[in-house]
Amino acid sequence: MKKYKIAVVGATGVVGRSFLKVLEERKLPAESYTLFASQRSAGSTVRFMGEDHTVQLLTEESISAGFDIALFSAGGETSRKFAPIAAKSGCLVIDNSSCWRMDPTVPLVVPEVNPQDILKHNGIIANPNCSTIQAMVALAPLQKKYGLRRVIFSTYQAVSGAGAAGIGDLQAGVEAYAAGKEAPAPKKFDYPIFGNCIPQIDVFADDDYTKEELKMINETRKILSQPELAVTATCVRVPVFASHSESINITTEKPFEIEDVKQLFAEAEGVVLVDDVKSKMYPLAAEAADKDEVFIGRVRIDRSFPNTLNLWCVADNIRKGAATNAVQIAEKYIQLTNK
Ligand code: A2P
Repeated sequence: MKKYKIAVVGATGVVGRSFLKVLEERKLPAESYTLFASQRSAGSTVRFMGEDHTVQLLTEESISAGFDIALFSAGGETSRKFAPIAAKSGCLVIDNSSCWRMDPTVPLVVPEVNPQDILKHNGIIANPNCSTIQAMVALAPLQKKYGLRRVIFSTYQAVSGAGAAGIGDLQAGVEAYAAGKEAPAPKKFDYPIFGNCIPQIDVFADDDYTKEELKMINETRKILSQPELAVTATCVRVPVFASHSESINITTEKPFEIEDVKQLFAEAEGVVLVDDVKSKMYPLAAEAADKDEVFIGRVRIDRSFPNTLNLWCVADNIRKGAATNAVQIAEKYIQLTNK
C-alpha cells in the first residue's frame, strides 16, 4: 500500500492538537508527518507518535514540498492563501475553515453521509461546520428512508468551539464564582458565558441570522444534495466545555413509525442510540466528550404537525465536529484511491 506524506497545518491550535491525537489513534498509512504553524510557534517541539516534532513555519515553499495530504485548521485567511498553493503542488487539502465550504468546486464531506463526493475534489475538500457535521449523521438515514421536507435546528454549543479563548472565558467565570468574586470581563465572548446562554455565534448577517446559523442552513443543503430543503436554525452558546447538543425537529416526506426510526438510528453508521427515557437514558454532553460517535436520543413524534419528529443529538465538537471528521475524510480518500 502507498505510504502518504502528511502535513498538519495549525498543529499547535485546539483543533490541530486534536488532529494529532486522532492521527495517533487511527494510524493512517503515513510515510511522514510534518507539523506547521505560524511564526509564533515555529521552532517549538510537539510530542507526536512517540517523537519530538519541530514545528515548521508555514510558507508557500514549505507547504509545496511534495505532501500527499494536508489537514488544515489555521483559520480562514491561512486556508484561503495556502490551500490552493498546496493543492497546486499535488497535495489533497482537507480544510477545517469555513472559507471553501460553499465553493461549488469544493466537496463538503461527512464520510458517513456523502463519501462519494470525495472523488469529485479539485485538490481541496472542506470539512463542514461542527454543528452541521453531527446533524448530518442524524439526518442522512432519515433522508434516505423517508425523504426530508423541513428541518429546524436549535443548538446548545460548547465554548471549546470558540477555541482556547472561549474555554478561558468559561474557566474564568467558574473560578470567579467559586471564589465569590465578580467575573472578569470576557475576552472572547461579548457577554459572560458562565451562568448564561448567548444566542449569538459568529457575527450577524444582513437578515439578522448569525453566520453560524447560515452555515448550518447552507451546508445542510449542500451535503444532503437537497438545495431546496426548508431548513432554519437558532445557534446558542452555552456554558459547557465540550460537546455540542442539538434539538432537531424534522418533517419527512413519507410517514414513519417512531419505533422504525429508532431502529434506523440503532443501525446507522457513526450513531449511538441512547434512548431509554424510563431509565432516564439520553445523550449528554459530558458523556459524549472525547468520543467519535454522534449520540441520538429523545426520539419522539411531534404531534403538532404531520410526519414530524423531535430528537436530541450530541457529539464532541472538536472530535467528530472537526478533527475526527477530517481524519475520516483522509481515511476514506486513501481507501477509495488505493483500489
Ligand atoms: P500558532 O501557534 O503559531 O499561532 P486556534 O484556532 O486554537 O487559535 O489555533 C490556530 C492554529 O493556526 C495555531 O496552530 C496557529 O499557530 C495556526 N496559525 C494561525 N495563523 C497562522 C498562519 N498565518 N500560518 C500558519 N499557522 C497559523
